Amino acid sequence: MDLKSHIRGVPDYPKPGILFYDISPLLAHSDAWAVAMGRMARLIQETGVDFIVGIESRGFLMAAPLALKLGLGFAMVRKKGKLPGDVVRHSYDLEYGSDTVEIQADLVKPGQRVVVVDDLLATGGTMNAAIKLLRDVGADVRAAAFLIELDFLEGRKKLDVPVLSLLNYD
Ligand code: PRP
Ligand code: MG
Repeated sequence: MDLKSHIRGVPDYPKPGILFYDISPLLAHSDAWAVAMGRMARLIQETGVDFIVGIESRGFLMAAPLALKLGLGFAMVRKKGKLPGDVVRHSYDLEYGSDTVEIQADLVKPGQRVVVVDDLLATGGTMNAAIKLLRDVGADVRAAAFLIELDFLEGRKKLDVPVLSLLNYD
């Protein structure tokens, strides 16, 4: 199945000059979504991980079905202030200003082999922050997995783990 035919390119969104890759048509098509998750699950299975982490918010749409499919536990990396109890946070710089991601302190066990999942790799800033956060809680981050990778932004250069991606755009 040609999964790219279920991804919609929206020009000039959210800013002029940006081509936004919209995954909504894929999610709306149950067969396409199932095929996408099946293919991602196979890529992840080869890494031998035992836990899945998803990045808010669109990353959850990939990470949760993948965890169920692979029979693995799943934890959320969220933007600040959304998780109760003890959290560990990591702040990182954006083009303008900064942002903070958090995870609950006791969910990932030291040494646990995790894959971090997001829908899309652009500059790599979001994934890099999530990986650093996970290392702070002792995780052994084995891979970063994406449905879509924007090759021209070279985000994978920012990541020091193997990068798995299903659909690549130049
Ligand atoms: C988008 C996308 C990735 C991130 C990729 O999320 O879902 O998480 O940007 O960009 P980067 O590689 O340059 O960091 P966004 O912040 O738009 O939020 P959302 O997932 O909540 O829609
Ligand atoms: Mg996102």
